[in-house]
This record gives sequence, C-alpha cells and structure tokens, in this order.
Amino acid sequence: MARRKIIAGNWKMNMTPTEAVALIEELKPLVVNEEADVVFCVPAIDIIPAMEAARGTNIHIGAENMYFEEKGAYTGEISPKMLVDAGVKYVIIGHSERREYFAETDETVNKKVLKAFEHGLTPIICCGESLTQREQGITIDWIRQQIKIAFLNVTADQAKAAVIAYEPIWAIGTGKTATSDQAEEVCAAIRVCIGEIYDEATAEAIRIQYGGSVNGANAAELFAKPNIDGGLVGGASLKPDFGKIVNYK
Ligand code: 13P
Repeated sequence: MARRKIIAGNWKMNMTPTEAVALIEELKPLVVNEEADVVFCVPAIDIIPAMEAARGTNIHIGAENMYFEEKGAYTGEISPKMLVDAGVKYVIIGHSERREYFAETDETVNKKVLKAFEHGLTPIICCGESLTQREQGITIDWIRQQIKIAFLNVTADQAKAAVIAYEPIWAIGTGKTATSDQAEEVCAAIRVCIGEIYDEATAEAIRIQYGGSVNGANAAELFAKPNIDGGLVGGASLKPDFGKIVNYK
C-alpha cells in the first residue's frame, strides 16, 4: 500500500499567538489536500489558539519539542501530557537546532521518542549531517548511527507509526536544497536501516520526510521520489507558498 504523504511546517521561533491565528486563517484555504496529512508544528504558546483556529479544517497542530519526564521541577519545559491535553498528535523531536543550541543528543532524542510513544504522540524524528560530514563521505554512517540510537527500545509497531525527517544541516535555511537524488539516496538508506533494525513491513510503513529549503518550486520533484514521503518545511511554511508545497502535484 502506498504510504500517505505527510507535509509539516516547522514554524520555529516565529509567530505570536495573535499572528499564529492570522496565519492559519490565511493559509487554511490554501492547504486543503485530502491525500496528505498536513501538520503545523508551532511554538508551545501558540498551540491552543492555533488548535482553535484550525478547528474544522484538515490542519493538524503539532509541537516543536517536548521533555522526556512526566512532570516536576523542570522549569520551562513542556510535558507530553500537556501536549496531549491540548489536542496535539505530532511532536518534532531532535531538530538540528535543538541539538546545536540546546545540547540535545541522540540519547535525549531516544528518551523523548519513547516518552512520546508512551503518550500516544507521533514523533517526527529529525536526523541530518553537517557539510563537513557530507564532504568527508560519512553521511550515511552518521545518519545510521542517529537512527539506531533514536529507535533503541522502540517496538516495531511504534516504529511503523513514526515519522523521520531527514534534514541535511547545510540545507536548512540556506536556500541550498539537497538535490532530489541526494535526498532520495539518504531517505532510501534510512529505510534500509529501519528494515535492518525491524523488518521489511516496518521499513515499508514508516514515513520519511525531507527537510531543508523546501519550497513551492522544488517540492514536486522531491516528493515524487519513491522514498520521500513528504517534507518538513521551515521558512516556506510561514507563507502562502506552503499551499503550493502541500498541493505539490
Ligand atoms: P527551511 O525550510 O527554512 O530550510 O527549514 C527546514 C527545517 O529546519 C524544518 O525543520
């Protein structure tokens, strides 16, 4: 069975609650697509107003991060229960910006992934290589390591429902998109890796996105690749261009 595409926006640290509502009002007629899951991952403070603004539409509201503990003395953090109570289904885990600026590691990513599943949340698990790693020819080795640790103790049934976002760091916010062949090569390697950890059925079921300077002009070519099941979109998700990405065909 063909995998359903999943196209998600990552708003990053943009949009006040008021702006979030206005943006959803603007984008909601543009992002209608019955054949794909459409997710807006928004800052935590925007989740509740965004949920309200998206009510009755095909837009799912997701989170950009969560903590791996249940509750307690973790000032500033958001728990999985808070997300679930707010109606969230998807949560981005281990974005390269969180790894770089907030000291997240493959091990904390794994803890968050396990905790997300425990609460019925679908993690969008990010991986990606730096320019140096690509130039040194260690991209696939690096990604396989990230994936193997992220999925430690994750069951096959959970993995089948997971989403992986392959985001080469050098392509994020740079306007320098990976070519569709480069993106496909790594997404295919990720699927092979999932097949090794689990089995063929799990590898076939898991959805793998590409992220990094996706826009309305390059989405069609990227999403046509057999192992690319959609995108994780930063800058262009804040603009009407996101409608073109969602309706890439
Ligand atoms: P850009 O689409 O702005 O390059 O960001 C990609 C990204 O980091 C999505 O998570």
